[in-house]
Amino acid sequence: MKIAIGSDHGGFELKGQIKAAVQSLDHEIKDVGCYSTESVNYPEIGRIVVGLVASGEYERGILICGTGIGMSIMANRTPGIRAALCHELYTARLSREHNDANILCMGGRVLGPAIAEEMVKIWLSTAFAGGRHACRLAMIDRPV
Ligand code: RB5
Repeated sequence: MKIAIGSDHGGFELKGQIKAAVQSLDHEIKDVGCYSTESVNYPEIGRIVVGLVASGEYERGILICGTGIGMSIMANRTPGIRAALCHELYTARLSREHNDANILCMGGRVLGPAIAEEMVKIWLSTAFAGGRHACRLAMIDRPV
């Protein structure tokens, strides 16, 4: 699978750990930054991953900031993007089964590397259940 990953300074360290874990699973991963702990603005990094996933060039994205909140708010403004902010294994799995999430957002200042790696493994290997959940996803795109 082709995966794009990005973080701000708050997610930089966790991004390195997640990147290594994803590579060990034989996925292709593109790191769009940031590349140090120097302070950067998360929307600037987030929009690169959002663009790669929304265009279909990359199948999935992973975005990490300090809490994951800013990245998820930013990512969900683009049609076709379903970004899920997850903190543990249950929501990581359900974000795939029920929501067909195509971007996983995490908080680098919230999660330890071991739980985050497990979350990513589950998130990458869980299929969308479809059925009633597909009907609900279609409703999200209906104008208010
Ligand atoms: C940066 O300090 C912090 O605000 C950012 O990483 C993120 O948590 C925003 O939602």
